[in-house]
Amino acid sequence: MEASVSLDLPTRILQARQRIEPYVRRTHLEYSPGLSKLADGCEVYIKLESEQITGSFKARGAFNKMLMLAERGPEFKEKGVITASSGNHGLGCLAACKRTGIPLTVYCQKHVDAGKRNSLEEQGATVVLYGEDCVDAELEARRTANLSGVEYISPYNDYDIIAGQGTISVEILEQLPEVDAILVSVGGGGLIGGIARYAKQVKPSIKIIGCSPEKSKVMHASVIAKKLIYEESFDTLSDGTAGSIEENSVTFEICRDYVDEWMLVTEEQIGKAVVFMAQTHHKIVEGSAGVSLGAYMFNAARFKGQKVAIVSCGSNISVRSLQDLLNKYVK
Ligand SMILES: Cc1ncc(COP(=O)(O)O)c(C=O)c1O
Repeated sequence: MEASVSLDLPTRILQARQRIEPYVRRTHLEYSPGLSKLADGCEVYIKLESEQITGSFKARGAFNKMLMLAERGPEFKEKGVITASSGNHGLGCLAACKRTGIPLTVYCQKHVDAGKRNSLEEQGATVVLYGEDCVDAELEARRTANLSGVEYISPYNDYDIIAGQGTISVEILEQLPEVDAILVSVGGGGLIGGIARYAKQVKPSIKIIGCSPEKSKVMHASVIAKKLIYEESFDTLSDGTAGSIEENSVTFEICRDYVDEWMLVTEEQIGKAVVFMAQTHHKIVEGSAGVSLGAYMFNAARFKGQKVAIVSCGSNISVRSLQDLLNKYVK
């Protein structure tokens, strides 16, 4: 059953694209002279999901899901939905819930970024803080939803969410059909899962590169272990991708089968990538975007002669964190 759903994912991604098109931005694929010159004959483009509504790609999956629920019937407007998030998925869900009239409760782990939590509360979501790791919040949210008969929306372990994120791939392949490689930051694997599944279907020669912080790399370690494993995560600038992954997540098999390579980045590399975007492109990006950008910047020779797209996945960084990074790395 799971496998057949997974096989059908490219079709679901195209359906998601039509469904969400009126509500989300088709983001720009910006040429980067600064990144291109880091490797001979390389052309690098940045997919600016950091300029997506709500400040991250998460609006794509969230709109796909909520629009599907709204089509299914009015009960969701009465009962609401429950989700769990490190912040960005919650913000995406909130925008989609407002459009569809569905009340939203978001479970966040206790150490959630204060800025993201404030945005959620200020805009009308009910926020429940639970646990030390995002997977604690996810399990509690799922348990509560099951007990109360309310729909639980996983931030990545859900084919409708993955299909929404996969619409990024549709756009990249339209904007740059000659693309050789796409670099993507990985948390639970919904983002890279959707991108990889569609891109490999349309262009099997493409290389999909999964990027993670050294300090929190659960999907990367799981693919090496050939099964989803628990591995301790440490504090990282990439709060969006940090933490454990729900057992039996459908994203594991997609990552195992469709991601070609994995790269790890240090905190310094993430920080320098965030600063590069501010200094060179005059764009604010968050640490999670610094992961894919940093993976390219510090492994550029690997991409010699290629056309590369890097997904800049979010911009929700606090002014204080950005200021710290600028103080540290601006020369
Ligand atoms: C900005 C940002 N980038 C990347 C990710 C990772 O996405 P996924 O969990 O689908 O791998 C997240 C997840 O919240 C995020 O907020």
